[in-house]
Amino acid sequence: MSTPLVHLSRRYSFSASHRLYTDHLSFEENEAIFGRCANPNGHGHNYGLTVTVAGPVDVPTGFVMPLDELDAIVRRTVLDAYDHRYLNLDVEEYADLVPTGENIARCVWERLDAPLHGLLRRVVVDETRNNRFEYPAI
Ligand code: NI
Repeated sequence: MSTPLVHLSRRYSFSASHRLYTDHLSFEENEAIFGRCANPNGHGHNYGLTVTVAGPVDVPTGFVMPLDELDAIVRRTVLDAYDHRYLNLDVEEYADLVPTGENIARCVWERLDAPLHGLLRRVVVDETRNNRFEYPAI
């Protein structure tokens, strides 16, 4: 009998500021596309981050992976880099990438994928109560 896989999801949070603006467009074009989110000095969000891993249930612990191990990887690879930062200037992947929720979800995936050794299944970024971004799309 093959061991069934189980999903483990854990929620984290970080606070960060950003500005939705690209140097590839004019100021007027940025304002037309991003509206207030293009304001020069940025604005902040309290982001929710849900990370889902999948794996066989270990015997004898009964875990997919220990929570403290997952926490340490998320903290080291994502939260330490993102929390209380201005994403556009402080986080390297946004030097030439607009830090939208879509891109944040993708970039968080890129940071976590290798350290989680193939267990990562999904990254969900909650930017506001109304905006949620999920990667990969199903
Ligand atoms: Ni925003």
